[in-house]
Amino acid sequence: MRYVLIVIASVSILIAACGNQDQNSASTTGAVDGKDLYNKKCGICHGRDGKLMASGAPDLTVSKMEKQGIVQIITMGKGNMPPHKETLTTTEIAAIADHVITLRSPQ
Ligand code: HEC
Repeated sequence: MRYVLIVIASVSILIAACGNQDQNSASTTGAVDGKDLYNKKCGICHGRDGKLMASGAPDLTVSKMEKQGIVQIITMGKGNMPPHKETLTTTEIAAIADHVITLRSPQ
């Protein structure tokens, strides 16, 4: 009986591992694409270039916010900006924050 449980547990782990691989294979590199996620999750208010300023969103190209603050605001939201902690993983949020910084105009 115990042996059967171990087999069931191992099979579940294998299925879970395969599921994760399937998700990754959607992108060519297997890495998280911060730009693509930004365009999908943030572009509606901030625009792909960061300058749309819809729904009272600030222009991200002139933002001085540091990465830690960007991660915080993506995770928890603020004012009219919704929190994303239920829909994005911490890895995805970090990749998006890196992309947000690249939107800034060169100094
Ligand atoms: C529904 C519209 C909306 C969406 C979607 C949205 N934001 Fe925002 N964002 C806002 C608003 C409004 C603010 C201003 C919040 C405040 O300060 O009250 C803001 C503020 C910010 C700031 C702070 C800028 C600064 O210098 O103060 C950053 C960074 C940011 N958003 C990044 C993102 C990222 C990255 C995403 C996608 C994960 C995202 N936002 C999704 C509306 C949105």
